[in-house]
Amino acid sequence: MEKLEDSRHLYLDLMKRCLVNMIYPQAEEVPLPATATGFRDRLARVLLKDEGGSGRISATQSGDHLGRMEGRIWPVVAHTMIGLKRLDNLEFCVEQVIAKEVSGDLIETGVWRGGTTIFMRAVLKAYGVTDRRVWVADSFEGLPPPDTAKYPRDADSDLHKARELAVSLEEVKTNFDRYGLLDDQVRFLKGWFRDTLPIAPVERLAVLRLDGDMYGSTMDTLVNLYPKLSKGGYVIVDDYGAIPACRQAVNDYRSANGISEEICEIDWTGIFWQKGN
Ligand SMILES: C[S@@+](CC[C@H](N)C(=O)[O-])C[C@H]1O[C@@H](n2cnc3c(N)ncnc32)[C@H](O)[C@@H]1O
Repeated sequence: MEKLEDSRHLYLDLMKRCLVNMIYPQAEEVPLPATATGFRDRLARVLLKDEGGSGRISATQSGDHLGRMEGRIWPVVAHTMIGLKRLDNLEFCVEQVIAKEVSGDLIETGVWRGGTTIFMRAVLKAYGVTDRRVWVADSFEGLPPPDTAKYPRDADSDLHKARELAVSLEEVKTNFDRYGLLDDQVRFLKGWFRDTLPIAPVERLAVLRLDGDMYGSTMDTLVNLYPKLSKGGYVIVDDYGAIPACRQAVNDYRSANGISEEICEIDWTGIFWQKGN
């Protein structure tokens, strides 16, 4: 039994190192060209909390290694941008719902290259869980233009112009396949959250992970999926610290629905809470 525990731990540790690409760090050292809109540089200043103007998304110095591990920098080739601490948190949440038999599937809304959902599938695999699915929800075309009539808080968002965030469904499936984890337990929901989530054939969730950046994407996810989260399940929000509009959506949804469970910090941006009732 001890040996099985060890190999589980070793597999999941190696998965995390691969998913954030600690394995071939030199592949992350390629400078990315500036975008015409200067979008990447502006986002870098937000993510790196660098109002002075030297923030960069591209990785060009060995010091950037730390930024990647902390999920502050968009990686060049790694399959997730969320960094090690947020992967550790996800592992904790999935292990808890397995151990405590909290019923339901796992979902991430906003998957980019798929790395975080690949890790969800890996944890199920490591524990031999065959009766839970991993839902992979994304437009696979990047973020939507802001719907300012419905969500005025998104008025300033130009994330839809970031073509780096548009990763096709085929590419994400290929990434799952590279880890040997593309199978029937993985389900894809392609389209805008406002269209896919209200009719998604998801019955019950044990882990709900949000990484859609915008107010609207965050609110559309919470409205449609939070009621499906089991008691004892976990909600994780990737952008709570980094993106004020996302934080506002979470706070608005919590106060509108009387949610008072304590918010726990994961790192400089990620938070989570356990659903109590
Ligand atoms: C920051 S990336 C996600 C990063 C990812 N979780 C990871 O592990 O690296 C945001 C993703 O959310 C998706 N997205 C944001 N808002 C969306 C919406 N309203 N509908 C569909 N996809 C959306 C984008 O296409 C993009 O892939």
